[in-house]
Amino acid sequence: MSDRELSGRVALVTGGTGGIGATIARVLSEAGAAVTVVGRRAELGTAVAAELADGLFVPADLSRRESHHEVLQSTVDRFGGLDILVNNAAAHTAGLTHESTEEEFDRVVGLNYKATYFLTQAALPHLLSGGGGRIVNISSIGTTRSWAGASIYNSSKAALDNLTRTWAVEYGPQGLRVNGVNPGIVADGPMSYPVQAAFDIEEDILPTIPARRLATAADVAAATLFLAGPGADYLSGVTIALDGGLTA
Ligand SMILES: NC(=O)c1ccc[n+]([C@@H]2O[C@H](COP(=O)([O-])OP(=O)(O)OC[C@H]3O[C@@H](n4cnc5c(N)ncnc54)[C@H](OP(=O)(O)O)[C@@H]3O)[C@@H](O)[C@H]2O)c1
Repeated sequence: MSDRELSGRVALVTGGTGGIGATIARVLSEAGAAVTVVGRRAELGTAVAAELADGLFVPADLSRRESHHEVLQSTVDRFGGLDILVNNAAAHTAGLTHESTEEEFDRVVGLNYKATYFLTQAALPHLLSGGGGRIVNISSIGTTRSWAGASIYNSSKAALDNLTRTWAVEYGPQGLRVNGVNPGIVADGPMSYPVQAAFDIEEDILPTIPARRLATAADVAAATLFLAGPGADYLSGVTIALDGGLTA
């Protein structure tokens, strides 16, 4: 029997088809978890799942609530339950508040906040049935330190941070632990590629970060692994600022 920290555990990573989510899926798998990867891009999702020791790809547009049951049922049918939910799927939109449209608002809030809320609601019976479920919400440092042009995205992630605390309180007595990882700019995180292209990272960004480097997807995955693992059993309702000291 393996002694890896997530052996025998079942994880579901939303947005695991690429970027940070795919790295999280790989790291949880290397730690021994069976992992379901969810996203819309079937070719990428299939490839990520195929790399994992015990992987499953379920194609889904999570902004459609009807997809949530299918994603969870496929996981339970294949792996027998669900212990770890990583809410990583998200959308971004850029623009000052006076330029933003209702359509952008509905798309971003509809995924980052509403879909995360209802997928988690549907996952709760599974996460609670084993007595030691974990939720890790991938949020953003933008909830603490805002910047111009991200009002919809940052406020959707602030709602997610609140859910981290609320779910920790509501379901802690049943053994659920709920925490968040709030990265700064992630060098290999596709969502920040437009920001990275718009700034001179060396000149404009790195001097503001005490660690003098950007985050990596591996940093986010390491924090997620810790929060999903046995060492974090007394941690709940916490959002980890994974920002190299930026907000310190
Ligand atoms: N990159 C950064 O610098 C940074 C910084 C702070 C926080 N974050 C957070 O880290 C997470 C991952 O970001 P990333 O940089 O890896 O960006 P990304 O590559 O754009 O990842 C977003 C993921 O969400 C999935 N997704 C989007 N819409 C979806 C939908 N309707 N249904 C299902 N899945 C959907 C995408 O998969 P499909 O396209 O296959 O659907 C994709 O895998 C996000 O929560 C983001 O807010 C990133």
